[in-house]
Order: sequence, then structure tokens, then C-alpha cells
Amino acid sequence: MITLKEKTRFRVSPLARTILGLSVAASIVWFLRSLRNPNPNSFDILDTKPMSVHEDSPERNFYDDPNLSYSIDKSVKDWDAKRRNWLKRHRPDRDRILVITGSQPLKCQNENGDHLLLRMFKNKVDYCRIHGYEIYYNNAFLHPKMGGYWAKYPIIRAAMLAHPEAEWIWWIDADAVFTDMDFKVPIERYKSHNLVINGWPNMIYKDRSWVGLNAGVFLIRNCQWSMTLMEVWAGMGPQTPRYQNWGKIQKSVLKDKVFPASDDQSGLIYLLLKQNKRWADKIYLETEYGLHGYWLNLVDTYEKVNKGYIEIEKGVQKLRRRHAEKQSEVYGELWELYIKDTTFKRRPFITHFTGCQPCNGEHNPAYTRQQCLKGMENALNYADNQVLRQYGFVHPNLSDSSVTQLPFDFPASSG
Ligand SMILES: *[C@@H]1O[C@H](CO)[C@@H](O)[C@H](O)[C@H]1NC(C)=O
Ligand SMILES: *[C@@H]1O[C@H](CO)[C@@H](O)[C@H](O)[C@H]1NC(C)=O
Repeated sequence: MITLKEKTRFRVSPLARTILGLSVAASIVWFLRSLRNPNPNSFDILDTKPMSVHEDSPERNFYDDPNLSYSIDKSVKDWDAKRRNWLKRHRPDRDRILVITGSQPLKCQNENGDHLLLRMFKNKVDYCRIHGYEIYYNNAFLHPKMGGYWAKYPIIRAAMLAHPEAEWIWWIDADAVFTDMDFKVPIERYKSHNLVINGWPNMIYKDRSWVGLNAGVFLIRNCQWSMTLMEVWAGMGPQTPRYQNWGKIQKSVLKDKVFPASDDQSGLIYLLLKQNKRWADKIYLETEYGLHGYWLNLVDTYEKVNKGYIEIEKGVQKLRRRHAEKQSEVYGELWELYIKDTTFKRRPFITHFTGCQPCNGEHNPAYTRQQCLKGMENALNYADNQVLRQYGFVHPNLSDSSVTQLPFDFPASSG
């Protein structure tokens, strides 16, 4: 805010006039230099004056290279330098995480499918709005032969070019639900890593299990290493002539893999096992919190976990104080002081409905469709309660989407 006193300082003094004159002159020089760029193929930056990511400058950058392809079939070279040059000109002003999720191009076969996907997308939009992340929803197969779990790689690959300002791309499967709206990924922890994924070293290296990690949710740094990894990784996909063969290889290495087709999750574990030196030191296998929490173990715990939070809130007035949604992160940090004790049962960060397939209605025979539907309903309402709290409402019954108003000073005022 500019006060009256400060305002007077903005009167154009002789000094300011000189500065203004100099900067106009500098702009003219910069403009003339940009006109006679001696090498039209040069991506060098002539002037490094930063501008916002929303503005564009006339000088050439990687986007002007006709050879640069958005397709996963083509390699990108020198991406780090190209991106760095672009970033010299364009200063990102926010958290540089881009969340990406998506679904198939056509409508769901299961009659509730599209509604479930809508609610799952709403959940991700809520999480991103609260934390100031941008989100991109894709529902086109960018490579005609790469559907299902392989579809994400052409999307991530293209998004890295479309978002040079994003340091991280955070892929999250459509069927994964944020169930702790407060939790923030500790991004500083991954300073020297390029891929962050839930994975368990023993299950990968000792058991050689295809579920040693979960490839449904991960963060991948926007850099050349990631471009190269995805090229090698997606090289096991259905678009390649070696697809059948890769299925056999994966199955022979990962003893518990039952289905014959090559899949991305097995592919990454294969790379960790067989090309360990090339990749492993940049891959962070996160075990401390659940980027991927298996739904069957979680959906029945929400009510009990919630009671733990309410108990704390009853004793701490500042935690239950009403506030603007934009202030949520401050309250999230405050909560950390009360729940950091390892014996406290925290909300699961992400509940992943693997095996439930909300869109096509198929499911793993280990459980019923009804269990899946009830679980998803509970997770979505549980998450929504954390959002609706700031809007003054609550779903009192997690199996039902109806709401009631929250009394002032809840939960101190309730019995
Ligand atoms: C594009 O690729 C062609 C063939 O590889 C090459 O001759 C040409 O110089 C490249 N153009 C640019 C702008 O790099
Ligand atoms: C919660 O909602 C479900 C579904 O509408 C209903 O079957 C159940 O009886 C409700 N539970 C309570 C405690 O009201």
C-alpha cells in the first residue's frame, strides 16, 4: 500500500527524469540490436532484462526452431540450455509446479464414470487452488498408440515444452484423490533429484516386485535428464516394434508380474534394476508420505483420523478460528506443530483407487464394484469437508453428499 507520504516521493525529480531518459535510450538500443541479430539461428539472448512469463520478446528462442517437435517420437537436445535461456528472459512469479492429470478422449462406459471423474478433477482443482499450483487437464491421446497408463508420457513430454517456466511437472492419475488438503510436498528435499515417486527399495531390489513403486503419481523435473529418461522409458511402450518383447523381458525380471503386456511401472523398475548406474541417483524413492496410498487400506480410517483432528481442535482456539481460504496454507503450517508427533494418525495425503477404474466400471476381482464406489464417495466427501470448512459447510455423513452448516467456533461448540 502506498501512503500519502510515500506518494510525494514519486514526483518526477530531475534525477528521475535522467533515469527515465536513460532507460528510454536503452530500450531503443535494445530494439535496434534485436533488429539486426546477425545469426537468425542463434538462440542467444541479447539482453537479459527479465520480463513476466506472460510477455514475449521478439528475439528467437527454442519455440522458433522448426525442428523442435512436441512428439515423444522425437528427441529434444540441449533442453537445459534452451530452457535456461528462455528463463533468463521470463521470470516465473509463483511456485513452479504444474499439476497434470487427464482421462480418455471418449465418454466413460460406466454410467457414473464421467460424474466420478468430474468430482475427482474438482478435488485436484481444490488442492491446486489452495496451494497456488497451476493445473492442466488433458483428455486427448497425444500419441495414437499410447493409451492407458502409457498416455501420460506424451503429455508430460509436450507439457515440458509448453511450460518452460515450470520446474516440476506433477503427474497425478485421474483416480487418485487428495485426502489431506493441507499437506505440501517438501520440494526442497528433492534439490538434487529429478524424479520423485513412492517406492520401496526392498520391494524393488530384493523382491523384484512390479508393485515396488507406483507410477500413478510422481513429480518429474523439467530438464534434459527427464526428457531422456522418458524416451528410454516410453521405448517399452505400445508404439514401438519391441513392445511384445518388452512385455516378456519385464515378466522374466519381475516375478510377480502376471499380465503379459509391457507397462510403464514395470518399465521403471526394470530401469532401476538393469540400468541402475544411469538413472538411480536422480530418482528419489519417497517412503515418508503417500503420494500413492492404496485406497483399500485407507477409506475405512477417515472417520477415526478425523476424530483425532477434532480432539486437537477442541483444545486449540487458533486452529478452529474461521479464516479466508487464501490463508489455508498458514493454518496448514500451524497444524504441523500439533500433528508432527509420529504417533498421531495423520490424514492420508493421497488415496489412490488403483484397481477400481471409475471410468470403465471394471475392477480388480479382489473386491466388489460396490466397495470401490463407497470408497470413492467417502474419499471425495472427506476431502471436500476440508475445503467446505472455509465455506461454512460440512458433509456430516461421508457416504452422502448432502451438507449442513457448521456452527460458529466448531468444534468447541459441539458436544
Ligand atoms: C533442422 O534439421 C535439418 C535436418 O536435420 C538441418 O539441416 C537444419 O539445419 C535444422 N534447422 C535448424 C534451425 O536447426
Ligand atoms: C449415511 O449415508 C448413507 C447413504 O446415503 C446411508 O445409507 C447411511 O444410513 C447414512 N448414515 C447415517 C449415520 O446417517
